[in-house]
Amino acid sequence: MMKVVLVGNGAREHAVAAELAKDAELYAIMSKKNPAIAHLSKEYWICNIENPDAVAAVLKGKQFDLGFASPDATLAAGISDVLEAHGMNVASPSKAASRIEWDKSFLRNLAEKYHIAGAPIHKVTGDPDEAASYITDLGEVAVKPLGLTGGKGVKVSGDHFASPEQAVEYAKSLIKKDGSVLIEEKLIGEEFTLQAFCDGSNIALMPPVQDHKRAYPDDKGPNTGGMGSYSTGILLPFLKDSDIEQANKIIRDTAHAVKKEGSLFRGILYGQFIVTKKGIKLIEFNARFGDPEAMNVMSLLEDSLSNIFISMADGRLKKAKFSDDTTVVKYLVPEGYPENPQKDKPVNIDNAALEKTGAKVYYAAVYETGNRIYTTSSRSFGMAGRARTLEEAEQIAEKACSCITGPLWHRSDIGTRKLIQSKIERMKSIRD
Ligand SMILES: Nc1ncnc2c1ncn2[C@@H]1O[C@H](COP(=O)(O)OP(=O)(O)O)[C@@H](O)[C@H]1O
Ligand SMILES: [Mg+2]
Repeated sequence: MMKVVLVGNGAREHAVAAELAKDAELYAIMSKKNPAIAHLSKEYWICNIENPDAVAAVLKGKQFDLGFASPDATLAAGISDVLEAHGMNVASPSKAASRIEWDKSFLRNLAEKYHIAGAPIHKVTGDPDEAASYITDLGEVAVKPLGLTGGKGVKVSGDHFASPEQAVEYAKSLIKKDGSVLIEEKLIGEEFTLQAFCDGSNIALMPPVQDHKRAYPDDKGPNTGGMGSYSTGILLPFLKDSDIEQANKIIRDTAHAVKKEGSLFRGILYGQFIVTKKGIKLIEFNARFGDPEAMNVMSLLEDSLSNIFISMADGRLKKAKFSDDTTVVKYLVPEGYPENPQKDKPVNIDNAALEKTGAKVYYAAVYETGNRIYTTSSRSFGMAGRARTLEEAEQIAEKACSCITGPLWHRSDIGTRKLIQSKIERMKSIRD
């Protein structure tokens, strides 16, 4: 059996691990023990997965056929390069290739140089006066640090800024801290995720997914790591075929541009898109699966993930087959999340009841002590329902949520007809 080593320990990695373990011998390197990944693995090791020397020390004297590093900061730290140097096939991007995620100015410059469609009007500057006049000219903006911030760095007019002056102030503070800042026009529309396997030249698309970043029902409240997501086959209900075609072309063109710049993008290209009045725009690329989106697509995959990964490492990726079923993922999070999460609280998992629901449960930021599972300050469990119809998938995820008890909550509106209908209508009014 093929020996595969996975680096990472979130629910996203649990979803990947579950697929890999179907036909490969799984090993895991984790920063904290994820009880579910540990259970799926033949052996696992705990170390700082953002430290190349630490990961190299774990690998020493061991042999693997295939490696996959997953979280953004792990990729930015060059862990794929460590795996490669150890002499295995690698299906995750090098530090150089994952720059499309960890350097937002790199991505915008690449798109400009290779005339890739979908970029918003933008400017990268280190000059506070230039930043101020640019923001004044645009009016409504998104102000972005260039590097990784765990989803906490980008601020947008209307959501975070009540006035252009506040945007200017934030831009200036980023220039002071980082030396430069990315300023973009504010885009208005519905966001969606399109992920693709990529071998450096060829891509294989996955079904599109819509995530819900806001903490509270009806997409209100502060931003989170993502409260849940749904997919409905080859299209989302508010998308047209031409939207996916445009997004597909942007993904393809970006992979080719990275190649022309001299580094192959082997891994998961995650495109975050927004459908606007003026067509598809690209918010950003990530160099990894989304979390929660990985849980939607992995539960639909009908080909062997380890075979796909090997074909990516070899540069002979073909199509990947997905079911066109509907999926709904709801994240169970600690009470008080994201602002005041109840951490270190025990939860009860009714596994027999869970099994009856048919849902898949993915362990996120929880830990195990003395046979009990405890919360941390981050998201706890991804509950994934899959069915032919949205209504059934949503109900499966909802029932599954009731099988884990403790100081937890979730957004029960995710995947409901009502919420999705509001997105369809909003999109319709934006397009007209
Ligand atoms: N130009 C923009 N216009 C409107 N909203 C934006 C824009 N850029 C980003 N956003 C919002 O901010 C979120 C985070 O931005 P993103 O570039 O994806 O950074 P990160 O995920 O690294 O924090 C996006 O999901 C989107 O909701
Ligand atoms: Mg993003």
